[in-house]
Amino acid sequence: MIPAPLIETLRSARNVMVFTGAGVSAESGIPTFRDSLTGLWERFDAASLATPEAFRADPALVWGWYEWRRMNVLQAQPNPAHRAIAELARHVPRLTLVSQNVDDLQERAGSAEVIHLHGSLHQPRCFTCGKIPEEPLSMPDEPEGGRRVQPPQCAVCDGQLRPGVVWFGESLPLDQLNAAFAAAELCDVLISVGTSGLVYPAAEVPGLAWRAGATVVHVNPQAGTSHGEREYALAGPAGEKLPELIQQAFGRS
Ligand code: OAD
Repeated sequence: MIPAPLIETLRSARNVMVFTGAGVSAESGIPTFRDSLTGLWERFDAASLATPEAFRADPALVWGWYEWRRMNVLQAQPNPAHRAIAELARHVPRLTLVSQNVDDLQERAGSAEVIHLHGSLHQPRCFTCGKIPEEPLSMPDEPEGGRRVQPPQCAVCDGQLRPGVVWFGESLPLDQLNAAFAAAELCDVLISVGTSGLVYPAAEVPGLAWRAGATVVHVNPQAGTSHGEREYALAGPAGEKLPELIQQAFGRS
């Protein structure tokens, strides 16, 4: 049951912000990071895979792991949560979509502009000179996780390509972070979907919006029941709760 005041607030909102984490892609079969048993950081050691030091120590191990993740994404399809976000953009005057995810499922569901705070699996760059290759990456060869794969060479400096994601210890892309913070301060409603809210500075976004006066909605099977003024928890999978919210606010498009 979606609370009636939330539906009214969403209907009259002019600036809506959607802030997504790994949970929005969970129903597409993409593992989250911190869910028990299935989360990536439950099964793999972040320090040996997601840091510049790890890449320096064993580039083929790190590249191979990200190639396995990229292949999982390429084989996955957008789910009803991704599609609901794209649909919401058609109902409200302005929608800003900010994601911590490195997949492209939101774009493939029809969201035109996605601010990726943690980079992308699909846009590598040179570890040495930073150049982004003009050619897109080809389809990964092997479906196994944990296989070593030598990273391709940079066409400019012969350095090695690295995954285009933000690693632990690295800064977030400043333009994207500033755009996210600016949107959070401007929005009337922020819908936070499928994030544990544990990784900063991205995790500051919902609180920033709330302090600036926005109504904040958390969509998550783990969403708590207690919530304060202007804050709602829709407890359940995003692929059910988001279509329900949009259907109740705007009907079917
Ligand atoms: P987490 O794995 O920390 O959290 C995923 C959240 O999604 C949890 O709160 C789950 O309860 C929720 N969830 C699971 N299934 C869901 C579903 N079907 N619908 C809605 N929610 C669901 O992932 P993030 O918060 O995205 O950083 O993690 C933040 C960052 O930590 C990631 O961007 C990544 C990671 O280290 C980098 O790669 C830099």
